[in-house]
Amino acid sequence: MAQQEYKMLSDKMFTYKGTVLNLGDNYDLTPEYIDSLVDFETKDDDVFVVTFPKSGSVWTQRIMTLIYAEDFPDNANQITYYQMPWLEYRITGRDYNTRPSPRLFCAHLLQPLMPKMLQRKGKVIYVMRNPKDVMVSYFHFSNNMISLDSSENFDEMLEKFFTGCMLGGCWFDHVKGWITNKDKYNILILTYEEMIKDLRSVVVKICEFVGKNLSDAAIDKVVETATFKHMKKDPLANYESPSLTDTDCPKGPFLRKGTVGDWKNSLTVAQSECFDRVYQERMKDVPLNMVWDIS
Ligand code: A3P
Repeated sequence: MAQQEYKMLSDKMFTYKGTVLNLGDNYDLTPEYIDSLVDFETKDDDVFVVTFPKSGSVWTQRIMTLIYAEDFPDNANQITYYQMPWLEYRITGRDYNTRPSPRLFCAHLLQPLMPKMLQRKGKVIYVMRNPKDVMVSYFHFSNNMISLDSSENFDEMLEKFFTGCMLGGCWFDHVKGWITNKDKYNILILTYEEMIKDLRSVVVKICEFVGKNLSDAAIDKVVETATFKHMKKDPLANYESPSLTDTDCPKGPFLRKGTVGDWKNSLTVAQSECFDRVYQERMKDVPLNMVWDIS
């Protein structure tokens, strides 16, 4: 029974089957809707960008809408998330089953809650980021959003990260679920760090994966438009549009720093070592040999 696994964490956030979601003004969100998503009927050309929050979701979302720009000529001046909506945060009044193809979606969902994609219909792009940077990014983001619970300091934030009391739920479960089940999907796994290191190569990789044949000049344009510098001033891409409601729009910049290793400026040595211990323990069975830093 859905309600038994549903728990409000605060007046703004609730947990359901391990994921954590926030309530907002312009979307329909119920446990029943989340439950219905496993049976969402996917098509071959559907693409889902799946991330744990603060791993580069909006960046990848922007890259995708640029790669698919010619499929949506009428949407060129729409905010990115209208072109590529969040699956779980269904915009009020929209029916995602009847969206015209190609259908692009984002999701923060844990692997068991996602559409089953039977016969491997549809593709997944899973983007991961150094969890310490995810945590630091979330600390600032949650303190800027009225729809999220804030944290006073990084000790409090660490506790939330370890217990999964944050948007998306538990990072360890999220990554574990997707990595250990990856063979069930048509999946491309990317990291935020490789996007920072060589964005062009990643754009080319995505084009090959989704079967888009862009010219070199078109790829250059995607890369240029998706840089941090460009996106920061782009109201369609930076979630700072005045058309967003107070609940959805951060008080500070959504594109904050966009760097690798910012955690080193925020965590004490003791906090970092504590994180490493928990990471080793929780990820010991996960076939993931990540070196998160880039030189
Ligand atoms: P920081 O808070 O470390 O700056 P998400 O979209 O999953 O919420 O992730 C947000 C993070 O991605 C933020 O990290 C944001 O600045 C970063 N980001 C967004 N667009 C980016 C871009 N074009 N280049 C680099 N980082 C970007």
